[in-house]
Order: sequence, then structure tokens, then C-alpha cells
Amino acid sequence: MTLYKIFFCFYCTIVLATLISSTPIWDKNVRAYEPKTNIFDLTIKKVSLAPDGFSRILSTINGQYPGPTIEVNKGDRVVINVHNELGEQTAIHSHGMFQRGTPWFDGTLGQSQCGIPDNYTFTYDYTVSDQFGTYCHSHAMTQYVDGIVGALIIHDPDDPYIAEYDEEILVMLTDYHHTDSQILLESFFTPASGGEETRKLKFLFMVSVPDNGLINGKNNFDCSKAPPGSTCVDNAGLAKFEFIPEKRYRLRIINTSAFSSFFFSIDKHVMEIIEVEGSYTKRNKVHRLPINVAQRYSVIVTANQPVDNYIMRSEFQKECMPDGASKLPIITAIVHYDGAPEDSAPKAAPWKDFLEECIDLDHKTLQPLYEEKLLEATKEMELVIAFHNDSLGIVKAYLNESTYVPDLYSPSLLKVFAGQEYDLPPARNAFIFDNFEVIDVSFINTDNGEHPFHIHGHQFWVLGIGNGTKVDKDALNKVNPIERDTSTIPANGWTVLRFVVDNPGWHLQSGLLMQLIEFPEEIKKMNPPQEWVRLCDLTY
Ligand SMILES: *[C@@H]1O[C@H](CO)[C@@H](O)[C@H](O)[C@H]1NC(C)=O
Ligand SMILES: *[C@@H]1O[C@H](CO)[C@@H](O)[C@H](O)[C@H]1NC(C)=O
Ligand SMILES: *[C@@H]1O[C@H](CO)[C@@H](O)[C@H](O)[C@H]1NC(C)=O
Ligand SMILES: *[C@@H]1O[C@H](CO)[C@@H](O)[C@H](O)[C@H]1NC(C)=O
Ligand SMILES: *[C@@H]1O[C@H](CO)[C@@H](O)[C@H](O)[C@H]1NC(C)=O
Repeated sequence: MTLYKIFFCFYCTIVLATLISSTPIWDKNVRAYEPKTNIFDLTIKKVSLAPDGFSRILSTINGQYPGPTIEVNKGDRVVINVHNELGEQTAIHSHGMFQRGTPWFDGTLGQSQCGIPDNYTFTYDYTVSDQFGTYCHSHAMTQYVDGIVGALIIHDPDDPYIAEYDEEILVMLTDYHHTDSQILLESFFTPASGGEETRKLKFLFMVSVPDNGLINGKNNFDCSKAPPGSTCVDNAGLAKFEFIPEKRYRLRIINTSAFSSFFFSIDKHVMEIIEVEGSYTKRNKVHRLPINVAQRYSVIVTANQPVDNYIMRSEFQKECMPDGASKLPIITAIVHYDGAPEDSAPKAAPWKDFLEECIDLDHKTLQPLYEEKLLEATKEMELVIAFHNDSLGIVKAYLNESTYVPDLYSPSLLKVFAGQEYDLPPARNAFIFDNFEVIDVSFINTDNGEHPFHIHGHQFWVLGIGNGTKVDKDALNKVNPIERDTSTIPANGWTVLRFVVDNPGWHLQSGLLMQLIEFPEEIKKMNPPQEWVRLCDLTY
């Protein structure tokens, strides 16, 4: 049973979205394509909401949970005005965005920016020139766990699958806590009393059994389990997806969990994977799809079953959760065919295919749609992941025995502009690359928990995943590996990723975190907006 699991890019974690019903989110027939500027206004504030019937204060975007979905086309400019009314500093990270030429808009506290102070507006402004797919925007630190998440969808005018589906549906999966993440974290960090170090570190960790799980922000909760004095309403309602018989749906599935991995499925319906994190794949039929924190898949589902109601399921992978998770229910939603009774409960008909828990879908079954020549590696790196007590008895995550401690008041990118990138202390876990490199990183996980891993500003090729602490170099796939941006490093196992250092900027690999500073000399020639520089004066 896993004790600790850290999403590598905790800042960037998550993401998700908004659609509460299966209303098509984009009319793909309107395809006249001229890149345009899209302006979004996001107000970050606390409101009382009860997604599953249990009322709590959630940090929200525009008072909604999940937050609004941002939809743009590949090539568009995205302008996001963030109005912070949270009562504390915040930042908005767009998970998976390459941020080419605009590293300062990555939205990560302590790495690429200082926080947006309370009662202040900051504007993110970037172009999504060379990517498409399903991403998320979310708050840095753990605020996303408290509600600050929404989907970010980049439609592809050149989508090779465009003729193979009729409508799109967004499906956001998440675990859900009834307690504020700050309180969860404080409890995790005892026995430390909450000094400076603890305060800075606490957002790296989020380990507790969720109270519930949600699909598109909805689920029921058994209020008899709520603590006395809480406001709770039974049968708050499940998310409902409308299917028209014979139509083909592209489901964009996002996992915005803090911690929980799921198996996603729809009773009686086969799913065909076509895209993973911005890479098209050959069609790949699955019944049950494992999906880890921050991963995203697109699947095509055809409404080819008899007119009826069916269960959509998101099952917690309990093997990789703390004790106490065993009693968590399967999270469900309803797939309602046009013409089926509105109120009859679907008959359960779960897929029974065995899937091993706590590891990704086998990467070798994800074949890139377009063959691409894999670049030869120019450099190899090995990094060892471990969790153990520090001198205060607090369990922390270590990368090669260095635990990441951010400096929230002097982000690393600012240090680069000041010419101080080589002065960063060891606890920043910074790696600096001055040259074009193709790097093979071998992660050796000595921990008994799996850890999802993500690199900002890049996709990477997944060359291999295996058990044990020794990489099996003969088992690496160098023929047609899948390119994605979030991968799971198995418990007591290894993962080898290859990526290209070609994006001047700062890139966090997160949670258990290391920072990649690519081409600092190029960075220094860039012109960050004065507003960005000013944030650090305001928060210091
Ligand atoms: C927010 O900022 C405005 C102008 O900067 C100021 O007038 C107002 O008093 C501030 N409100 C709070 C609650 O701090
Ligand atoms: C969501 O992410 C969590 C955290 O890694 C993972 O444990 C879970 O399996 C993911 N959910 C799905 C549906 O994969
Ligand atoms: C991390 O530690 C491993 C094992 O001690 C070592 O082989 C490797 O070179 C180290 N990596 C870096 C980047 O220093
Ligand atoms: C951490 O320290 C506590 C007590 O200080 C001990 O009970 C626990 O076993 C230690 N855990 C690890 C992982 O070393
Ligand atoms: C790792 O080991 C487990 C059980 O020991 C096995 O089921 C699994 O297939 C192995 N995974 C890989 C990638 O070899």
C-alpha cells in the first residue's frame, strides 16, 4: 500500500473543466480558421458550494466549480485577466502549455513568477502556436485542490480525426475533499510546528484519503457520513451525458485529482484512444482506461448500444492510495440515450478486463499516428527519487537526496534575468542547459508509491517503464515511442524519458521538483513585461 505519492509537478497539477452536461463544447463545422485573440476574465474568489451536497468554502474561478472552460484554436493568442479576490496570493498555471517565448507566463510560484497579490489583477498573454489538445488551467500550490481548476482546450483546425466524430464532450475526473487543503497539509506536516520551511514545503504534499470523487463537478454523498454540524444534502445528483443514437463522440478526459488515479469506463461502450496530451495516436480500443493525475486522453465513443441509460465509471485505484481508501465508492455519472427514460437507474454492466493498478496504460500500446524520427540522445541523466524523514522527522521527497525548497519571493526566472542562475542554492534543484541537447532522463524510484511526472514547456518521449532500480536498456522503445507530457514512474521502478532542450525558459519538472533552465543567455535577451517584474516588488 502506497504511503506517499507526489505529483511531480504539483504546481501544475491539474486541471479541469467545466461542462456539466454533454452539451457539445465546440461546433466543429464552423472551421474558418484565422488565428485570433481570445480574452478571458477569471476572478479568483472563495464561495460556498456543495458539488456533492456537502457545503464547504471552495476557492473558485468566477464562483464556479469546476471553473470555466477556456477554448481556443491552435495558433490563437490567449489573454487571461486574473482578478485575485482570494484573500491570499495566487497564480494561474496553464498545464501543458509550451510557453515558447513567454516563460514568465507559466504561472508557477517560486519558479516563473511571484504571486499575484490579493485584490490585484494580472494578465497572462501567450500564443499557442504549435500545440493542440486538452489541458487545464489551475492555481499554483494546492489551491486547485480547493477548486481553482478549469479545462483549457486547444482545438486543432488540422485534426486528422475531424471526420471521425460528430461532437465533443469534456469529462473531468477528480478526487474531492471536504476539508480545505491547507488543513490537510498542516496535519501531514506535524510534528513540525509550521515554521518557514514547513510553510514553504507544505504545498508539495497532499496525501490523504479523499471524501469523495466527482465527474464534471458532480456526485452524490451519503450525508450520514458527514460530521455533525455540517450542511449536507443527500442525492445532490450525478453528471449526465446525452447521447444521440449512432452519433460518435470525442470525449476529452482530464484527471484533475490531487492524488487519486482512476480507471475510467462506460458500461457496454468501447472507447478508442486517438490522442494523448497533444499527440495523436493510432486508434487503440480500450474498455477501461487508467488515468493518472494531470493526464489527458481523447477517446472516440459511438452511441451504438440499445437506447437506454448506462453508467459511466471512474474507479479509484485503491492500491496506490493510503489505507482508508478501501471504502471509497466508484464515482459514477449517467450516459442517457435520447429516447430512454429520464429517471430509471441504469443496470450495472461493468467491463471486467483486468488492469494492473498504479501504472500507466502500457506506453507501447500508444502508437503515434505519425511516424517521427526519434532524435539521438546527446546526454544521459539519472535521478533517484526517495522519501524519508528529515532531521525534524518530517517525511519529504528527495531527488538525488536534494529536497526542493522554492523561494516564493525570488523566482528562478527572475534570477536568470539578474544573471544569477549559477548562484541558485542546491535546494532549488536547478539544472542549467546552455546548449541544444537531447536528454535521456532515467528516474529511479526507490519509493513504494508511484509518482506522476510532468515537464513544463515540453513533451517527452516515453522510452521505457519497468520494475526495480536498474534500468533495462534493452527494453527501451526507440522505434516509435509515444510523446506526451505526463507519465507515471512506478513504485519501486524506473522510467526513461527523452526530451529536447530547445525552449529557452524555465521549466519545472515539479513536485518532487527539479528546475530546468534552458539557454539562460537566450532568456536574458528576452523582454519580460514590466507588470511581471512588478509582481515581485508587490509581494516582497
Ligand atoms: C482593492 O484595491 C483598490 C484599488 O487598488 C482599493 O481601493 C480597495 O480598497 C482594495 N480593497 C481591499 C479589500 O483591499
Ligand atoms: C488521476 O490522477 C491520480 C494521481 O496520479 C491518479 O492516481 C489517478 O489514477 C488518475 N485518475 C485516472 C482516472 O487515471
Ligand atoms: C543522481 O544520483 C545517481 C546515483 O547516486 C547518480 O548516478 C547520478 O549521476 C546523479 N544524478 C545527477 C544529475 O547528479
Ligand atoms: C520517521 O520518523 C518517525 C519518528 O521520528 C518514525 O516513527 C518513522 O518510522 C520514520 N519514518 C521513516 C520513513 O523513516
Ligand atoms: C512489475 O511487476 C509487477 C508485479 O511484480 C508486474 O505485474 C508488472 O507487469 C511489472 N511491470 C513491468 C513494467 O515490468
